Amino acid sequence: DFNNLLTIILGGASMALLDLEASPEAAREALLEIEAAAQRGADLVRRLMSFSRRGGLRRRPLAIDETISGFVPTLRRLLPESLALEVELQATDAQVLADPVAVEQVLLNLVSNARDATEGEGRIRVRSRLAREGVIVEVVDDGRGMSAETQERVFEPFFTTKEAGQGTGLGLPMVYGLIQQHDGSVEIASALGEGTTVELWLPTLEANAPEVTPRKPSREDLRGHGETILIVEDDPALSLTASRCLQRFGYVVLTAPGGTEALEVLDAEPDVDLVLSDVVMPGMGGRELQRQMQEGAHASVPIVFMSGYASPRPQNAPLLPKPWTPDALAAFVRDCLDAREPARGG
Ligand SMILES: Nc1ncnc2c1ncn2[C@@H]1O[C@H](COP(=O)(O)OP(=O)(O)O)[C@@H](O)[C@H]1O
Ligand SMILES: [Mg+2]
Repeated sequence: DFNNLLTIILGGASMALLDLEASPEAAREALLEIEAAAQRGADLVRRLMSFSRRGGLRRRPLAIDETISGFVPTLRRLLPESLALEVELQATDAQVLADPVAVEQVLLNLVSNARDATEGEGRIRVRSRLAREGVIVEVVDDGRGMSAETQERVFEPFFTTKEAGQGTGLGLPMVYGLIQQHDGSVEIASALGEGTTVELWLPTLEANAPEVTPRKPSREDLRGHGETILIVEDDPALSLTASRCLQRFGYVVLTAPGGTEALEVLDAEPDVDLVLSDVVMPGMGGRELQRQMQEGAHASVPIVFMSGYASPRPQNAPLLPKPWTPDALAAFVRDCLDAREPARGG
């Protein structure tokens, strides 16, 4: 996935810079990895470009309900007569800082998905309402719904359950990307055979205050003290990048390519201080690993996650978004360990 590639590139570049003088051979290796990852990324982008006609966002204050209602006739034209489109706009006067073309693009994708999920009959509802510091826009269908496995992967670029030529797998990633660029969030609720609700949250203009920049920790704060971290990641190059990075910061690193293997490592190694796991992996994923650790013999070992998608977020566990940089990874691991042992180092 694209975020894995970016993480490999960012991590590799940071490390190549550090290795440059002391160890040119290691730097060379990191650069070769960057080159390979960038090449894979370039191939992905080439495929993406043919679907994206976005030349940067042009955000301006918008009355969201007006933007939606102005677009309803276009949405209507996407749908067969037998599908009802109900529009219920209740975010009167709410203003968001948004690019109207992006908002239309998002609605177009969601309503197309809703249409594809029905057998040509039923109803699609587009609703808006005021919510805490923002507006919620919902697209609701009573179509076939999604399995839990599908829901986990819908934000993954190129993930589609549709036949070749029907689906691109880029609709929801685009929705996710656009809403993120608007400082909003996307949530999906779906049940097989019952339907799907996609809920968008966008901050209203008043709430759109500039963010406070968090204190940048010094490198010394980020250092490990020989704690053992188990990295669970199915992408071998990304696992290697994370391992090297944490080793450099002073951690002992173990790795496992999936949940099942991680449990084996935990059984064999009693001294793991923290499990850092990907969420979506073939075989046993991160959430199942979390469940089995908590219900089994490893309830005392904290598990935290790194993930690139807005897929259903693991409960009660910190999440490091991909792509990460080495400093962000080290800070995240340090924070997670410190949260567990507040007295350490006193
Ligand atoms: N409203 C929906 N109802 C059921 N499944 C959906 C819905 N929206 C998205 N999906 C699932 O998510 C997948 C990815 O959607 P998307 O990213 O828009 O790509 P595409 O529509 O090209 O397949 C779809 O193939 C489908 O399986
Ligand atoms: Mg789609």
